[in-house]
Amino acid sequence: MPKCSLKNRILQLRVITCIFFILCVKAFIHFIITYGLYNYPHLPAEVLETQLFKQTTPNLVLQKNKPDCTYDKILNNPTTLLNWEVPKRFDDFSAKDLVNGSYVPAHCNPKFSVAILVTYRNRQSQLDIFLPYMHNFLRNQNIHYKIYLIEQQDEKLWNKGVLYNIGAKQAIRDKFPCLVLHDVDLLPLDAANLYACAALPRHMSASIDKFRFVLPYDYLVGGVLAITADQYVAVDGFSNRFEAWGGEDDDFSARLSAHKLDIVRFPREMSRYTMLVHRQEPKNTQRKRILSENRRLGDKDGLSSLPYHNTHVKNHRLFTLIGVML
Ligand SMILES: *[C@@H]1O[C@H](CO)[C@@H](O)[C@H](O)[C@H]1NC(C)=O
Repeated sequence: MPKCSLKNRILQLRVITCIFFILCVKAFIHFIITYGLYNYPHLPAEVLETQLFKQTTPNLVLQKNKPDCTYDKILNNPTTLLNWEVPKRFDDFSAKDLVNGSYVPAHCNPKFSVAILVTYRNRQSQLDIFLPYMHNFLRNQNIHYKIYLIEQQDEKLWNKGVLYNIGAKQAIRDKFPCLVLHDVDLLPLDAANLYACAALPRHMSASIDKFRFVLPYDYLVGGVLAITADQYVAVDGFSNRFEAWGGEDDDFSARLSAHKLDIVRFPREMSRYTMLVHRQEPKNTQRKRILSENRRLGDKDGLSSLPYHNTHVKNHRLFTLIGVML
């Protein structure tokens, strides 16, 4: 049995000091590494509006007696929420002016039509917050938008890439020129974060509280991404081959880069999100292998080669549901 001598005590103290020192060094190195990403490169705030992709769907009947909607007030709106101020209950929520998950501003003609694609399975408590929060947020933005909820309705492995491809097909059929791919657990905090596509694919969730508002890496497109329908088709959408959690977004990022579509972002003060807490899904242990294989195979796996899946579309007031059986 070890004696509890003075020598042992000192040794113990040293170990604790040593561990503490190592942790300090690690935190310091982490700070240095992430500093650049905290101040990531972004579109200059003054030219944001000129960089936006202004197009509405031809299905939208514009009214001659109404003025065009303007966006400079929204882009310069300093209103922001702290993450603990985000409402979790919506007792007085009004679904006024919403039809099939869609909204058109009443007082002006919008310059943007945006399809918001939300992939989903079994996260009812998050959805109950997401839908009213997003409708309240988006109805302040003078845009025409529609929320599509693409739900995987089977017990097979989760396949987010396939769900996005199915949602994009439907949104393109409905002639939306701009798609926003949106995680159901992310809520925008800055009123100035206009839900619109830019000339280049726009990563919108650059600054998430879960990651201490630091952009984890510069080719990240996961979370919330705005991309034009034409660009989505040009890169052949998502790979259909990533099952379980992870990998499909990095593969999509590689597709953008292969097509010389650089990722742009808004400044950090406009790009903050809060993440609703949830259990981590089982990770896809094959994701590295599929990532490298897809690079070799090129474009043979994606939107154009989407396998047949049994889907049905149902209109609800707050969203249009696309149910999918893989
Ligand atoms: C909403 O969906 C219904 C079908 O459920 C359809 O008849 C109607 O035209 C749609 N309305 C709009 C404005 O999209």
